[in-house]
Amino acid sequence: IKIKITDRQGVLHEVDAPTDMNMNLMEVVRSYELAPEGTIGICGGMAMCASCQCYVNSGHDLPEKSDDEEAMLSEAFNVEDNSRLGCQIHITPELEGLEVELAPEEI
Ligand code: FES
Repeated sequence: IKIKITDRQGVLHEVDAPTDMNMNLMEVVRSYELAPEGTIGICGGMAMCASCQCYVNSGHDLPEKSDDEEAMLSEAFNVEDNSRLGCQIHITPELEGLEVELAPEEI
């Protein structure tokens, strides 16, 4: 599926994300090197670091946040109403045309 990802410099990338590889959005960002190594996916996708936070700008109906995701976002910086943890968003066919923006790096 095609996904639009705006990186932390504000550059828009349209990428192909496979739906048959059990990938999540954080892994897609990493595979295209859209954020420097060590600034995204720090906890390895366990919903424990918020380095993969992104803003969902398209109207896709994403699965509800898990309690772990809610808890992490409640402690993270720069959280907006449309914030999600990229590692908790699994790439499925329903996400065709998804538009997200990476949240600023947490320091
Ligand atoms: Fe750590 Fe997503 S990679 S919360």
